[in-house]
Amino acid sequence: MQVILCDSAEHVGKRAADIVEDYVRAGSAVLGLATGGSPSSTYRELIRRHREESLGFSDVRAFTLDEYAGLAPDHEQSYHTTIRREFVDHVDLPLENLMTPQGDVSDLAAEAERYDAAIGAAGGVDVQILGIGANGHIGFNEPTSSLSSRTRVKTLAGTTRRDNARFFSDGEVPRLCLTQGLGTIREARTALLVAMGANKAEAVRAMVEGPVSAHCPASVLQLHRRAVVILDPDAASLLSLADYYREAQEMNDELGLSARSGGFD
Ligand code: F6R
Repeated sequence: MQVILCDSAEHVGKRAADIVEDYVRAGSAVLGLATGGSPSSTYRELIRRHREESLGFSDVRAFTLDEYAGLAPDHEQSYHTTIRREFVDHVDLPLENLMTPQGDVSDLAAEAERYDAAIGAAGGVDVQILGIGANGHIGFNEPTSSLSSRTRVKTLAGTTRRDNARFFSDGEVPRLCLTQGLGTIREARTALLVAMGANKAEAVRAMVEGPVSAHCPASVLQLHRRAVVILDPDAASLLSLADYYREAQEMNDELGLSARSGGFD
């Protein structure tokens, strides 16, 4: 893993946007988009670069990570609506190029299979943006998820439903979701995880420095060929090898290496 330590959420967003921009400028990129609070500063920075630095998304295709079961795409709290509000509607990414699992179908298992196949048919994801749950989940792969899982129906953990209740006016978070599996996420060419805040510090420690274990699903990124983890000081506060990550980052900066062109871990 390449661990990048930043001073603030804004700094995290800039570093993450640098990596995404590399892929977008290379042309015909396939982006994997997370929702939730963690990628907000990354999306803000990409929107700014679109407006001020002519970063164009017209040939980009995008797949979201997950969706709540039972919510129609146009529901206020669906991840389809959320990713449009947070990112897609502010850039020139054509709406027909935005793919999200559909949560309001009668056969959720078939929808999960269809979605997984659609990612493959698009040639796979170039760069998958990820947040991490306080319980170590990525996507909605809750603890004990198979490290080889594909896109599927998943029961949300009580802690995740409590964490996300803030987004629902009635506090009622659906109990089921569709999520890309850990095996699906692992196939992205670059996995780019951003984390901020002290409530993520223990999960970040387990992901980066703990054993690979379904108990912390994000630890599967240790098996990824190119996983980049970008952290603010609070999220990084429990890491024991921080000095080493800083030295590696200084080396990359000195050599002008980005994650896509092959930064060193
Ligand atoms: C969202 C997702 C989740 C979140 C995670 C962190 O699409 O898949 O894994 O990234 O729950 O959520 P925030 O960023 O709101 O703390």
